Amino acid sequence: MHRKILVTGGAGFIGSNFVHHVLKKYPDVFLFNMDVLTYAGNRENLRGITDPSRHILIESDICDQARIERLLREQDICTIINFAAETHVDRSIMGASPFIWTNIQGTYSLLEAARTVWLEEQQLGEGDCCFLQVSTDEVYGTLEPDDPPFSETTPYAPNSPYSASKASGDFLVRAYHQTYGLPTLITHCSNNYGPFQYPEKLIPLMILNAVEGKPLPIYGDGRQIRDWLFVEDHVRALWMVLEKAQPGSVYTIGAEVQPTNLEIVDSVCALLDERFPDSEYVPFNSLKQSVTDRKGHDRRYAIDSSRIRKELGWAPEVSLKDGLASTVDWYLAHRDWVNQVRSRDTYNAWMKKNYQNRENSA
Ligand code: NAD
Ligand code: TYD
Repeated sequence: MHRKILVTGGAGFIGSNFVHHVLKKYPDVFLFNMDVLTYAGNRENLRGITDPSRHILIESDICDQARIERLLREQDICTIINFAAETHVDRSIMGASPFIWTNIQGTYSLLEAARTVWLEEQQLGEGDCCFLQVSTDEVYGTLEPDDPPFSETTPYAPNSPYSASKASGDFLVRAYHQTYGLPTLITHCSNNYGPFQYPEKLIPLMILNAVEGKPLPIYGDGRQIRDWLFVEDHVRALWMVLEKAQPGSVYTIGAEVQPTNLEIVDSVCALLDERFPDSEYVPFNSLKQSVTDRKGHDRRYAIDSSRIRKELGWAPEVSLKDGLASTVDWYLAHRDWVNQVRSRDTYNAWMKKNYQNRENSA
């Protein structure tokens, strides 16, 4: 008997890494992957999965509650992991509507479907079903240089439409646990990087712009700080949470590293200098260009991940140095994937919209 799991957003960056990882490591798992395939979702991210007979891609919106109910009921699925979301902060600043739809209404639809089928119809108890909400550290807002890192008890203080919509989804998850006893889990991870990340986010954008000799746009002074976790480490953490965490638990997840954006971009550029010593663009970091800052830009994120380390025995396995090197190599080795992603109109339209009116502020 296979263990059946509904993965939402499994054609996106982290979701597809989760699908690859779980199918490879756990032969008893069958994944139903519900993804509406927005600009960020891509069938190509699922190419080469281990044993495709244990995976079905269902092209559907998580706001379609009736369809989710039917799926849970007919396939007897008792585990949901919700990756589906609109995720890019800059896009949320330009227009929050899809964020409200997917990150709030979509989370509500999933919760309501789970409550109806699991609790009302099937009368399942705590150990019988599980709803894992993949959230972000951005719901906690921003830190001053000397503030302690975010932990599971940090009050929410979201600053962007993206983080506010994720926070709203999280509050619904919490409420379904408190009110109806739905067995829920919430994780708050830091910035991820690695294979299959849509190249509008910092690290893949910098790799691809640099190899093409394009400017590397640094928002503001570039001294903003993020905690960067290699995606495979996040995916392992999520599996541990699914397997071992007590219902109602919350975990913050991060690598506990504190580079500035400038340091990240310089590291990427140094890796490219080594790989293309004869390029006319060496040193690649001379392509950096300071541009108009993001509105409401969070200055610093930091994570205290001691709870998941202590309670579940998780620890990151990939250092920032190794993770960046393998990410650079992945993007260089997957030009077909890059070309396919960038050949869609949406990519060029976004690049124009986001960057053309940012002044060079050097
Ligand atoms: P992504 O943007 O790469 O992928 C999102 C996926 O969700 C896409 O495949 C998209 O098609 C799908 N989707 C969007 N709206 C949908 C809808 N209405 N119905 C069904 N599918 C829909 O995102 P990601 O970076 O992989 O992030 C996944 C999750 O992890 C998100 O919930 C995000 O908030 C969270 N998270 C991301 C990071 C990060 O650094 N990327 C860090 C912490 C948490
Ligand atoms: P991003 O990858 O969009 O992740 P998030 O905003 O969720 O942290 O951005 C990471 C950092 O890089 C953030 O501080 C904004 C900055 N950034 C730039 O300086 N230039 C860019 O072109 C982009 C996309 C991001």
